[in-house]
Amino acid sequence: MSTYYLTTPIYYVTAKPHLGHAYTTIIGDALARWHRLLGEDVHFLTGTDEHGQKVQDYADAAGQTAQAFVDEIAPLYEQAWKRLNISNDDFIRTTEARHKLGVAELLQRCYDAGDIELDVYKGKYCVACEEYYTDDELDPGDLCKIHKRPVEYYEEENYFFRLSRFEQRLLDWYATHPNAIVPEFRGNEALGLIRGGLRDFSVSRTTLKWGIPIPWDAKHVAYVWFDALANYITAIGFGSGGTSSGGTSSGGTSSGGRAEFDKWWPARHLIGKDIIRHHCVYWPAMLMSAGIELPVQWAVGGWLLSGGEKMSKTSGNVVNPLDLIDDIGVDGFRYYVLAETTYGQDGDFTYEGLISRYNSDLANNLGNLLSRVATVVDKKCDGISPAPRADSPLAAAARAAYDATAEGWDAVQPSRALDATWQLIRATNAYLEANEPWKSEPGPGVDAVMGDALEALRIVAVLASPAVPATSQIVWERLGLSGDVTDQRLPAAAKWGGYPGGLPVAKGEPLFPRR
Ligand code: MSP
Repeated sequence: MSTYYLTTPIYYVTAKPHLGHAYTTIIGDALARWHRLLGEDVHFLTGTDEHGQKVQDYADAAGQTAQAFVDEIAPLYEQAWKRLNISNDDFIRTTEARHKLGVAELLQRCYDAGDIELDVYKGKYCVACEEYYTDDELDPGDLCKIHKRPVEYYEEENYFFRLSRFEQRLLDWYATHPNAIVPEFRGNEALGLIRGGLRDFSVSRTTLKWGIPIPWDAKHVAYVWFDALANYITAIGFGSGGTSSGGTSSGGTSSGGRAEFDKWWPARHLIGKDIIRHHCVYWPAMLMSAGIELPVQWAVGGWLLSGGEKMSKTSGNVVNPLDLIDDIGVDGFRYYVLAETTYGQDGDFTYEGLISRYNSDLANNLGNLLSRVATVVDKKCDGISPAPRADSPLAAAARAAYDATAEGWDAVQPSRALDATWQLIRATNAYLEANEPWKSEPGPGVDAVMGDALEALRIVAVLASPAVPATSQIVWERLGLSGDVTDQRLPAAAKWGGYPGGLPVAKGEPLFPRR
């Protein structure tokens, strides 16, 4: 069975979960669910990024220890993801023992390879970014371009990762892996960063205590980005189990950790466009230094904007996804996030947009189709489903919908995938309107049309389940089908003719009452 290891960024615990975080996590969840339908062995990871100066500052301001502070926030993420029906297989917190062990191992490997060296850093630092900047990277008045707030001057002894040594190796690697970063224009951004020249980056701080100690020099703690990036390997066992076996070329150090690591690695990373440098430049260089295989893919998303600005705590335009769920339902919200914007580009979040998508695609298309079908079957077929015809005019639409849906998910383009699935819904509604079975007398003519429509709905339930899992299960059950729609396997489950007929069809409440 082929494996599919997918990660989201791990979120800073300095903000509570908001729509920006939910956006990436929902996309990850839908991809994970799609690949489970394909029968792949999926491991979907998300988590929280809990070290660094910013966390320490927040904890100080709240009069708490850093540990108490992160222990309060991290569960809010876990709860939010449960509420949004996120099917992550693991949740990593960077304050966990397994993570600390793995970070120490990764640092040690890069140090042993000669790629980490002691030096003095003098310069300007944005605490909010956890990043050093040169003068030309700042706005006038020494303001951080992202946070529009003053940077701080730091001068201290740091360990440096010799990123400059990896420029050519990274270019060579990307040249032989041209599709590793999607969409393509985001890949070009990453290459531009590398071609622009790479500066060594500091991987330790002595002024900070809230972090993971450098294994060979405990005065220093690891820079938060080095620490954070490592989550993708520490979560699957890298470095867990204690004693270093030194010299394994791929995985963890305990046999259990190594087996798990070897099973899942390399990963596919979902990231936002703001963290391309860390993920597409620093991270592969760190892995090269440590002798670890590079990721299979980086899928880079744009920002979800609210009133034209990145939705973030700092800009004060945060929408709490959980508030929206009360209005629109979990699946209504998930569907909007997946269908509304083109992954890779920025998208604008508006409440009006949310309602309009809900009404058009969910209430009028999917919801209406199910309710029409169930009503006609009830009235004209005694509530028992007819079987589909092998030569149905809808069979070709179903085949085309499957192909395009699969292509959309494969390209990490959820909006395209869903549009393709919804084409089948639209085609089925049009088919019903053309045949008007509600006007005909019961008999073989009505049965033929309704059997086809039921079969189309069965296929829709499977194809839509990564986006709207709870709704798909309801559709499945209303069609009289048993078991869990998520246990279906593609492509077999999308093949025309799978609906047996002869099942009781339930009318039930409207799936998506109009708003
Ligand atoms: N902790 C780091 C990531 C470390 S990964 C090894 C971090 N955390 S974050 O919480 O600030 O953001 C994580 C991701 O969420 C980023 O990729 C960011 O782009 C994404 N989003 C945060 N706000 C967002 C929007 N408004 N829209 C879309 N994505 C957003 O960076």
